[in-house]
Amino acid sequence: MHADIEKILLSETQIAARITELACELNNLYKGEAVCIVGVLKGSTMFMMDLIRKLDMPVKFDFMIASSYGERTISAGCVNIYLDVRMDVTNEHVLLVEDIIDTGNTLSCLKEYFISKQAKSFNIITLLDKPERRVKPIKADYVGFKIPDQFVVGYGLDYAEKYRNLPYIGILKDSVWQDN
Ligand code: PRP
Repeated sequence: MHADIEKILLSETQIAARITELACELNNLYKGEAVCIVGVLKGSTMFMMDLIRKLDMPVKFDFMIASSYGERTISAGCVNIYLDVRMDVTNEHVLLVEDIIDTGNTLSCLKEYFISKQAKSFNIITLLDKPERRVKPIKADYVGFKIPDQFVVGYGLDYAEKYRNLPYIGILKDSVWQDN
């Protein structure tokens, strides 16, 4: 285990097993119909790549960069979109992939954005959900794990861009982030 990690919250094995279950649910949902899968960079990348390898329908994928912080580029109401999807999602099934829902600001804005693009269907999947932190009343359609309000990193999630490459989800030691 990495020296900055207090405890492993979700092991590689637990994550892989849950992804297999989620993929099975999605295969049942879309029943072979093509899906446009959109990952919200950067945290969702590992989850998305592991998930899509277990899907059996035709899949196209793309990425977005969206943030409620920083300078405004294209606005989706309340988030700034720094990188938009390049594929046309009109009349397509869209599955938005997140690593974590915290306040819900990002996803509630992106949901409205995709509805305005007239997708045939819109679903959200997130690996992690921190319901205690919610400000906007958004719910993911598929959730990997509900977790407590603790500072987690790994498997795509970062603190100051570090720890994304850890293969597990770990709780970061308080001393690491409180010292900065
Ligand atoms: C994280 C996460 C979500 C968002 C969730 O992204 O990937 O996109 O925050 O927070 P919210 O529910 O409060 O809106 P972050 O901005 O940390 O970018 P990253 O994925 O590149 O680390």
